[in-house]
Amino acid sequence: MTATSVAQAVYVLAAVLFVLSLAGLSKQESARRGNVLGMVGMVLALAATIVLALGTSARPVLVTALLVVVVLLVGAAVGTWRARRVEMTQMPELIAILHSFVGAAAVLVGFNSYLTAQAAGHDDVAHLVEVSLGVLVGAVTFTGSVVAFLKLSGRTRSAPLQLPGRNLLNLGALVASLGLVAWFVVAPSVWPLLLLTVVSLALGWHLVASIGGGDMPVVVSMLNSYSGWAAAAAGFMLGNDLLIVTGALVGSSGAILSYIMCRAMNRSFVSVILGGFGAEEGAAPAGGEGPQGEHREVSADDVAALLRDARSVVITPGYGMAVAKAQYPVADLVQLLRDGGAQVRFGVHPVAGRLPGHMNVLLAEARVPYDIVLEMDEINDDLAGTDVVLVIGANDTVNPAALDDPGSPIAGMPVLHVWEAEQVVVFKRSMAAGYAGVQNPLFFRENTGMLFGDAKLRVEDIVAALRAG
Ligand code: TAP
Repeated sequence: MTATSVAQAVYVLAAVLFVLSLAGLSKQESARRGNVLGMVGMVLALAATIVLALGTSARPVLVTALLVVVVLLVGAAVGTWRARRVEMTQMPELIAILHSFVGAAAVLVGFNSYLTAQAAGHDDVAHLVEVSLGVLVGAVTFTGSVVAFLKLSGRTRSAPLQLPGRNLLNLGALVASLGLVAWFVVAPSVWPLLLLTVVSLALGWHLVASIGGGDMPVVVSMLNSYSGWAAAAAGFMLGNDLLIVTGALVGSSGAILSYIMCRAMNRSFVSVILGGFGAEEGAAPAGGEGPQGEHREVSADDVAALLRDARSVVITPGYGMAVAKAQYPVADLVQLLRDGGAQVRFGVHPVAGRLPGHMNVLLAEARVPYDIVLEMDEINDDLAGTDVVLVIGANDTVNPAALDDPGSPIAGMPVLHVWEAEQVVVFKRSMAAGYAGVQNPLFFRENTGMLFGDAKLRVEDIVAALRAG
């Protein structure tokens, strides 16, 4: 048995582990196992790749081994450093910058693969198509992800760039890119490839720059999908089956996630890509700004009194719970209320927070039982029969304007119907708007009380008041 055939067999095993990992990640209960399976798969894949590289490289084995060790050490050191420092709320921007690396890698592999084949005198049409498509997708992913990173991390404005005729510009760049692919395949040289790179870099930059902040979650998952296809293209160029399988898994799961998120926000995928929602948001950001009536302020003691009498409580968390790290006192509060005999459940909106599953991860971290954490569709019908809803650091995801106001930038987005409950308490620090920048009429409803301050401190106050009482 040769080193190559052993490596191929290990690749198949790693591919199966990646599929099982994705299956595990689809449920909270099995997510930890999914992560472990993915990690084992990645270790096997790396080991097999090193064996292959040592066996097939033209360099002396020791030099290749040294190169591999240096690259692994640098990558592991930077990765560990970043992963330890990043806050949960900064995850989307970290993911965006990681996607840009995949895009850049696909472009570099494309050039390398073309130049190596040319030096060896190979001009296979299939290979040329692989190279040009890999460079096209990789370059779009690279600049698109860099712009997404800059917007999400607040380094540039998140408002959409609105160049005149932007859809025509995108279309023109796409047609030009396909023309350059054809030129490269018919008359291979480095020039069409370089031009293709420049046009694709500009296309990726413009595509994401034109999209407003409100649609960034979908953009990040769309770039996730692109990065998968870029990796698959690199797999074709390198003749690496595992990279093809892994890239296809990432590409298709990113596409499915984009679709689910578009459905959760009631947006059409095409209009998101073309900057539809972002454009409206940019055009009328101040439409819902400013107070829209009188709000009623409540104290932590008032809320404790309300909760003491409540038989059913629903908590709808949002981005503010993540910022305040309020999940731990929230878990204590849940325990206290359940011990007192109340039914307590969570209602999680699919885009609550700043990345899909954000709330579920935080609640799992605080050891909230999985079976009381329900999705929006599972809890919405029960809200009318609920005594108290605690809206902890959520805003856009509980905004009735999404249903009542066709002119609102978030019109049509499905929301949690918290206002249907007997009493609603909103935890936030001020009357400021949420992520989409629109005012929330919920705050001015008669059955809504506003509990101002940091969510963690306020929940701790309520827990203390309940314990004292
Ligand atoms: P948001 O609409 O962003 O509202 C968060 C609220 O938390 C704000 O009203 C803020 O009000 C409050 N807050 C912030 N820090 C706080 C603290 N320390 N203590 C108490 N309250 C605090 O959040 P949401 O309801 O979760 O909606 C998510 C939004 O983000 C949607 O528009 C969604 O499209 C977007 N988005 C989602 C994702 C994904 S995939 N989940 C990714 C990116 C963007 P104050 O400032 O007054 O405290």
